[in-house]
Amino acid sequence: MKKSKKIYLETYGCQMNFSDSEIVASILTHEGYDYTSDLATADIIFINTCSIRENAEERVRKRLQYFKSLKKKNPGLMIGLLGCMADRTKTALVEEEHLLDMIVGPDSYRHLPLLLEQVGTGRRAIDTILSADETYADITPVRLDTNGVSAFISIMRGCENYCTYCVVPSTRGQERSRDAGSIVSETRDLFNRGYREVTLLGQNVNSYHWVSPEGIIDFSRLLENVAGVNPLMRIRFATSHPKDIPDRLLYTIAKYDNICKSIHLPVQSGSDHMLTLMNRKYTREQYMERVGAIRRIIPDCAISTDIITGFCRETEEDHQHTISLMDWASYDFAFMFKYSERPQTLAAETLKDSVPEEIKERRLKEIIDLQQKLSFESNKHDLGKIFSILIEGESKRSKAHYFGRNTQNKVVIFPKTEAGPGDYITTKIIRFTSATLIAEVVTP
Ligand code: 5AD
Ligand code: SF4
Repeated sequence: MKKSKKIYLETYGCQMNFSDSEIVASILTHEGYDYTSDLATADIIFINTCSIRENAEERVRKRLQYFKSLKKKNPGLMIGLLGCMADRTKTALVEEEHLLDMIVGPDSYRHLPLLLEQVGTGRRAIDTILSADETYADITPVRLDTNGVSAFISIMRGCENYCTYCVVPSTRGQERSRDAGSIVSETRDLFNRGYREVTLLGQNVNSYHWVSPEGIIDFSRLLENVAGVNPLMRIRFATSHPKDIPDRLLYTIAKYDNICKSIHLPVQSGSDHMLTLMNRKYTREQYMERVGAIRRIIPDCAISTDIITGFCRETEEDHQHTISLMDWASYDFAFMFKYSERPQTLAAETLKDSVPEEIKERRLKEIIDLQQKLSFESNKHDLGKIFSILIEGESKRSKAHYFGRNTQNKVVIFPKTEAGPGDYITTKIIRFTSATLIAEVVTP
């Protein structure tokens, strides 16, 4: 009976969560379930959730209300909540609202087939226990919503950095690395299927650690092994924690053409006072020293960052330190957020969320405006430069254009040629905005 059931899977949150959804799709299609991208035909709806900020959770709650209305019309519809909200929502949504049939945490996806059977017999299923060693290393993900060119590979799970604002250690548990051999073979398999770019994912890839029969494989070695699969396979990775991004890693990135020259190095704040309260384990000066090392060892490397504004006790002076650091670093790109207190974090338990909402908003606007100028300046520097672009697909705005990325991870738009998605093409930048580079195709 289950063989005819169709599953609709909706994902929120980070790339890691999207990568998890591909593991879920793999486990379930293996068991004979069908996967559908059409909500109207689904027998089972899964929502893979994120807890990182309050608004992420709110979006999920709104969506669940909509699913509730579908369930009213179709009482046989099963609804399951997966991912980072699993642990904290179980009481409210299952026991109070009777909306969810299943709640499954990020380390329990192997149990999904059994849990679905349990729900099929009319019982609710909850499984949110976190594991110390689950990495899903042996599961070949089913690529969802893929362009057939770029794919994500999870290389580790969990996080033990305990930044005081962050919910991830409580939602995703202990840090553990995945078997290096399985990462290399997944990359090779993707290459053979036509993929030309993989992004290696972890909360802090620099602490990747695997003991193989040939010895210890750290992140630098893993990168070399993955880069060795084929020079035409581009390698990206995220995220690097500034407290441990060693020179050795930077030399490895510089050495291989196919390791992309783009590092995401979240700073969070430019103020030592905030960095201490956030438990980031580096100072402003140490962060600047690492940015200096990147610029020295990989001169053409793009640097992007994450910033939280309005964290507990942040003063105007702290905020100005963030602004001056952004200016100094000239980030190519930044994700910027207002602080949002999360339950079960050290900050929620020990610090008051003291910055008023309107001040958080004003500071956020100031850093967003600044970053827009920095991104514009960064793109201006690219005018006239020649870049090798990996073509990803048709431009969303024009059927006559393709888009792709350069090694610095910047999106480049250019007129279509006989080359297509998955091919490399040489282009020259002729125009730009703060978000995009526009190019013409040149003969190499
Ligand atoms: N409030 C706001 N932003 C947060 N981030 C993580 N936790 C919070 C929070 N409680 C941001 C950080 C992190 C990114 C993934 O999300 O900048 O690097
Ligand atoms: Fe990803 Fe963090 Fe959101 Fe979980 S809480 S989905 S780890 S961003």
